[in-house]
Amino acid sequence: MKVLVAGAHGNTARRLVRALVKNGHEVRGLVRKEGQLPDVEADGAEAVLVDLEAEEVDGAVGEAVAGCDAVVFAAGAGAGSGAARKETMDYGGAAKLVEAAEKKGVGRYLMLSSMGADDPEGRDEAMRPYLRAKGRADEKLRESGLEWTIIRPGRLTDGEGAGRIDAAESLGRYGEIPREDVAAAFAVALESPNTVGKTFEILSGETPVREALEGL
Ligand SMILES: NC(=O)c1ccc[n+]([C@@H]2O[C@H](COP(=O)([O-])OP(=O)(O)OC[C@H]3O[C@@H](n4cnc5c(N)ncnc54)[C@H](OP(=O)(O)O)[C@@H]3O)[C@@H](O)[C@H]2O)c1
Repeated sequence: MKVLVAGAHGNTARRLVRALVKNGHEVRGLVRKEGQLPDVEADGAEAVLVDLEAEEVDGAVGEAVAGCDAVVFAAGAGAGSGAARKETMDYGGAAKLVEAAEKKGVGRYLMLSSMGADDPEGRDEAMRPYLRAKGRADEKLRESGLEWTIIRPGRLTDGEGAGRIDAAESLGRYGEIPREDVAAAFAVALESPNTVGKTFEILSGETPVREALEGL
């Protein structure tokens, strides 16, 4: 498959790009800083320069998804950003890619969401703008005609992946998961038709990634 990874220089996305390339996919990595292009190319992807907040669906965003079979949204405004960028990036960037994917006939869209995106008001006040934005982006994707999968991890860590996770629509607990295992879950979900039309949470757990997703 030809896969666009948005936010390709991100800490989870770089692991995902490498996993997808290893699995034989052709990857286009979208970044917003010129200095990040060489790293993305070194990871094995074609690198494209697009700022998802500044560019338009009928311009560079559309061009970036054209010709792809799938989009993975793994970008994000980041922990240090304020409420305005939660709106323009965490919601707006993801939403633009949904519209662009529909316009360009990209069938599949996988969203890197977050635990708590279904219940922002029940979470810590500081997290609410972020979780509201993530929840609205998920809603936008669900209302699209795309074959979507929404994956909601807990707190991301840079620890070594264990290759074992728990996955369920609702896990009923909060916790952590290494970015490497999140990347592995996306790589498996991309090739798993049973995950289409599903929203589910993932955390470090006991079950091999493929088996955990087969059980959804
Ligand atoms: N951190 C957590 O515990 C946690 C938990 C659950 C879900 N998530 C979600 O998981 C995803 C990945 O998290 P992460 O920590 O691996 O990400 P990350 O390292 O912060 O990477 C995010 C990437 O998005 C890029 N980006 C920001 N604004 C952009 C724009 N306007 N156009 C294009 N790219 C842009 C950033 O580029 P720059 O380098 O240029 O800023 C960065 O490379 C995010 O969607 C996040 O919301 C995070």
